[in-house]
Amino acid sequence: MRVLVTGGAGYIGSHTVLQLLAAGHDVLIADDFSNAKPAVIDRLEELSGQSIKVHRVDLTDEAATAAIFAAEDIDAVIHFAGFKAVGESVSEPLKYYRNNLDTAFSVLRAMDARGVRKFVFSSSATVYGENPVLQRTEDMPTSANNPYGWTKVMIEQVLRDLAVADDSWRIALLRYFNPVGAHASGRIGEDPNGLPNNLMPFVAQVAVGRREKLSVFGDDYDTVDGTGVRDYIHVEDLAAGHIAALDRLGETADALSVWNLGSGEPVSVLQLVAAFERASGRTIPYEVVARRPGDLAANWADPSKANRELGWHAGRGIDDMCADVWRWQSQNPNGYPDA
Ligand code: WQD
Repeated sequence: MRVLVTGGAGYIGSHTVLQLLAAGHDVLIADDFSNAKPAVIDRLEELSGQSIKVHRVDLTDEAATAAIFAAEDIDAVIHFAGFKAVGESVSEPLKYYRNNLDTAFSVLRAMDARGVRKFVFSSSATVYGENPVLQRTEDMPTSANNPYGWTKVMIEQVLRDLAVADDSWRIALLRYFNPVGAHASGRIGEDPNGLPNNLMPFVAQVAVGRREKLSVFGDDYDTVDGTGVRDYIHVEDLAAGHIAALDRLGETADALSVWNLGSGEPVSVLQLVAAFERASGRTIPYEVVARRPGDLAANWADPSKANRELGWHAGRGIDDMCADVWRWQSQNPNGYPDA
């Protein structure tokens, strides 16, 4: 199929582009490069041995988005494009609601007009909000406690209503847990702008000497060692889940499907730090500080629905994730080159 990958120059998007190409799909990328560097495209072409068509575009611009669908023959869309920093969304809600909702509306309206019906949406476990059942299943109610999370909840609702209105759509809501890791080559990986919000890239930057020490946000949670517990999933397993979901959309009679993409393995902050020290041979200095507002103590996936219905499993463990992140970070201490 010819697949448009919005946000395809981003962390998860770039890894998914490689796997789409390896699976024999044609791929084109639409990205505004607000949170990705052009060097990513060079690396993707190097790794795939193929030239990749890229539209540098602001997808909140409905006319520009429609023009891409008029010019290109597109069979399916995987929609990653969107802002994703929880803290920033709290301080700049209008920026987040406008960008994340309008990009989704532009793409969906362009698809609707052209009769393109296969849509894979990059959703997040954040939509489970606070739920006393820590292992998340797809039937749980959704909510959020920050604007970023609300954009995911809202777009999921738009997609549900669209599927009810027109059952010719084939929509997959993929709820990611905590994506980490990097391509085994070390040539692509996570490269956050500025100070990393997320644990793994921060730990990697401490290991490579870019940061002095890790701040552990609380060790008084009711967990195995008091630190926060999450479900880390290797980005390569996550990318494979997108290929499996796309294939499933060609077979299912359901207009909308929901799948958790997680490992199902709960891992604490200190367990991840220990795994990273094993993988890198470096000591990760850390200081326990106050809890981060909005953080949950623990959550992880029940991935059995995706395992069963997609024939997909997240096979890589935390040691693989840390080894692959270390290879990326040690080979690219400052991330991608600017030029
Ligand atoms: C993991 C654990 C922190 C940084 C976020 C988004 C979520 C999704 C994934 C997009 C927690 C602790 C972290 C640090 C720390 N993103 N931590 N020191 O918060 O589970 O999820 O990223 O979809 O929407 O909310 O991931 O990596 O920020 O935190 O102690 O410097 O590490 O308290 O327990 P999180 P995270």
